[in-house]
Amino acid sequence: MQPDNESAMKEQNSVLIGNPFPWYAQMRRESPVFYDAEQKSWMVFRYEDVKRVFADWQTFSSQIPYPSEQSDLTQSLVYTDPPKHQSLRSLVAKVFTARRVEELAPRITQITNELIDKVQGQNRIDFIHDLAIPLPVIIIAEILGVPVEDRTDFKHWSDGIIVSDPAALQAMGDYFRHLLKQRRQHSGKDLISDLIAAHEAGETLTAQELVAFCILLLVAGNETTTNLLGNAILCFNEYPEAWEKLKRSPELLSLAIEEVLRYRSTVQGMERFTKVETQLAGQMIPAGQMLLVWIGAANRDETQFDRPDEFVIDRNPNPHLSFGNGIHFCLGAPLARLEGKIMLSAVLERLPNLRLDPNATLEFLPSMGIHGVKSLPVLL
Ligand code: HEM
Repeated sequence: MQPDNESAMKEQNSVLIGNPFPWYAQMRRESPVFYDAEQKSWMVFRYEDVKRVFADWQTFSSQIPYPSEQSDLTQSLVYTDPPKHQSLRSLVAKVFTARRVEELAPRITQITNELIDKVQGQNRIDFIHDLAIPLPVIIIAEILGVPVEDRTDFKHWSDGIIVSDPAALQAMGDYFRHLLKQRRQHSGKDLISDLIAAHEAGETLTAQELVAFCILLLVAGNETTTNLLGNAILCFNEYPEAWEKLKRSPELLSLAIEEVLRYRSTVQGMERFTKVETQLAGQMIPAGQMLLVWIGAANRDETQFDRPDEFVIDRNPNPHLSFGNGIHFCLGAPLARLEGKIMLSAVLERLPNLRLDPNATLEFLPSMGIHGVKSLPVLL
């Protein structure tokens, strides 16, 4: 980045959170791949480049190269490369199947309805706190077989992990180590018991990898789905005609969710590390460098999407990169889509007048990597 650009960016920083899109557009045009000295990272903005970085794991590694930063979480599959990644992924894919997710539909519907029962009749609620947070937390806790009474701790730690609190990570690691020990003695009908069974059947997951996977599911599955739901409401607030159209044609909901994922992608950026020297968009990147790969920028790339800065409710096809691409493609995508569909169709049906409180001031999460609001006061 040019020095004068750099100071301009610092000034812009607070503006970038919540609305990084004009900056992305400028970068796609002017500096699609550049080295940011402050972040000590190469920034990647264009669709084709983002897609290639994700696809080419031989060049762009997911493994954090600094041993001091290793933790329970960094042992998990999202931070590993093949062949390790492949063995971890095939094992967890065996128990985290599409069928298992589909079977959850009635339970997701029941929890959604209970959450809506609680708020119905109120005039003003916080959509994030009352609906978007509890649904994914309850579901993931049930998938993992976490006892009901432990769920508050669970949510508390998962919030801590998002803001890189090492104490929260440690506490959750200890919690899962304990839970795994219990499940080894008394297995249940949950994912942890299935993973232990697969493990004992001679597969390769170590105790540490089991803990890492539980933490990953929790961290990857909670905040992301919460913000998918919250961001959907933000999109419909910005495009009220889309919300009206959805009420008339609820069959558009699946396409609408894909467009929310593209237009306000929950995960805006991911990291990669070059294993070898490589060229990207004309820039030579040495080996051992960190890259920040901007999914949110790729999803607004005008060479890929018509009217990229518009929320087009029935956009089809919609090849967004919000769940990644290639070997690390989000394992929880079917679950996130299902939770999104069930919650939003229940809202359309049961809370059709839901709208942003005009007096609300929206505060975005203090992160460039995750896009969403802290709370979302809505009127019913
Ligand atoms: C809207 C919701 C979600 C979004 C936007 C999202 C996004 C992503 C992205 C971008 C990746 C790729 C990471 C990379 O390439 O380095 C990923 C991976 C992953 N996601 Fe999701 N995710 C969501 C929901 C979930 C849910 C609900 C779960 C599980 C319950 C989940 C579990 C995972 C796992 C385990 C991986 C690692 C896969 C691997 O490394 O092979 N995600 N997710």
